[in-house]
Amino acid sequence: MRSTRWKAASRAALALAGAGALAASMALFATAPASAGTTLGASAAEKGRYFGTAVAGFKLSDSAYTTILNREFNMVTAENEMKMNATEPQQNQFSYGAADQIVNHARSRGMSVRGHTLAWHSQQPGWMESMSGSALRQAMLNHVTQVATHFRGQVVAWDVVNEAFADGSSGGRRDSNLQRTGNDWIEAAFRAARAADPGAKLCYNDYNTDNWTHAKTQGVYNMVRDFKARGVPIDCVGFQSHFNNDSPYVSNYRTTLSSFAALGVDVQITELDIQGASASTYRSVVEDCLAVARCNGITVWGIRDSDSWRASQTPLLFNSNGSKKAAYDAVLAALNNGTTPTDPPTDPPTDPPTTPPPGTGGCTATVSVNQWNGGFVANVRVTAGSSALNGWTVSIGLPSGATVTNAWSANRSGNTGTTNWTNVAYNGQVGAGQSTEFGFQANGTAGSLSPTCSAG
Ligand code: G3I
Repeated sequence: MRSTRWKAASRAALALAGAGALAASMALFATAPASAGTTLGASAAEKGRYFGTAVAGFKLSDSAYTTILNREFNMVTAENEMKMNATEPQQNQFSYGAADQIVNHARSRGMSVRGHTLAWHSQQPGWMESMSGSALRQAMLNHVTQVATHFRGQVVAWDVVNEAFADGSSGGRRDSNLQRTGNDWIEAAFRAARAADPGAKLCYNDYNTDNWTHAKTQGVYNMVRDFKARGVPIDCVGFQSHFNNDSPYVSNYRTTLSSFAALGVDVQITELDIQGASASTYRSVVEDCLAVARCNGITVWGIRDSDSWRASQTPLLFNSNGSKKAAYDAVLAALNNGTTPTDPPTDPPTDPPTTPPPGTGGCTATVSVNQWNGGFVANVRVTAGSSALNGWTVSIGLPSGATVTNAWSANRSGNTGTTNWTNVAYNGQVGAGQSTEFGFQANGTAGSLSPTCSAG
């Protein structure tokens, strides 16, 4: 498994939940202790998971909304603001203001961000809707590249392609202008996304793929299996999980999650809502995720019922007045009661992050590496000890043949051998026990990296 910002996100969430770095890494692979978490995010983090929500940018001025958002969640998905029509309204004119606002709101509060979505048959800007053939293929790939590059280092996972399979019994692709550019459009999008942001997890995301017996589920499964066999860079599958009377939760959902995970991808529940918000169904969904080691987390598609795209179905965890529903209590209890499975991920990391205990004062640095043939991305987490940091320096010795090619969120001296990294303006001040991150891409082989950190 690629060891990426994904785990860093879990660790960040855990740090926020008050757990130490050691517990953070343990929680991903071992049985977690009994928990008494009091918010969705903190309780999920204690199980090495996240709990997220879709966020509508225009609601960030609603204090009732942000109070719940900031208290309960540690992952955010922009409900509409990262879609193609929002980010490239005119060809080659990119517009990131609304998305950046959500990303900044989330990240400045220690929440992580899922990107949604780079390529989709729906919500295309008008100029793209009328394109076809190689011009459309090129425009789509340019969009993927530009948007993934803009958010590089800020998004832990991308829904690279959304909803590309047909409903019904065919198990095949949905017809769309993108599909008509050639069946390889999905893998082309994934390759472009990987090149633009090698540190982000790359997901395929769809709805009505929850029931293991459905042709659509099997169609997506076969695509993912094929991608893994041929080395197409896919890391995760998102299950939207919009459950309603026409498309209800089924008990084989856990089989679906575990079967995909067994292909060597992470699985995430990305847009959960349940018509009527049955507490027992919400509980089952949480238990199913916790039962699958590679189920990283759950995102609900909105906060209050009034925020839902299906508001009349009252499908969410909070009433329209912001109070917790029975489904909330069921989810929290399931998160707190659940045990983290002891079965290891099917494809364990080759370079698990080391997590030395924070010293008094000073700082520690841990690194997670995503290695591929000929290069790697390293994400480095700097954690303050018992005192707040006002500036930090990290030293990392690179093995012979490894050369840094680009970096983000830190100043660098040296690109081979001993490299030294210092904070940039916005991430030098780190509260006691809190963390910040930077990263770099390099040619060569990372081997075992042992960063050291000093304050100042
Ligand atoms: O912002 C405009 C507003 O200015 C205008 O007056 C109004 C008139 O219709 O439209 C507003 O935009 C709407 C937007 O939501 C913001 O509310 C769009 O019309 C509307 O189409 C859009 O719907 C979104 C839908 O995706 C678009 O496909 C929903 O909010 C959003 O929840 C939904 O999310 C999707 C996921 O992306 C993919 N999976 C399914 C899920 C639910 O449909």
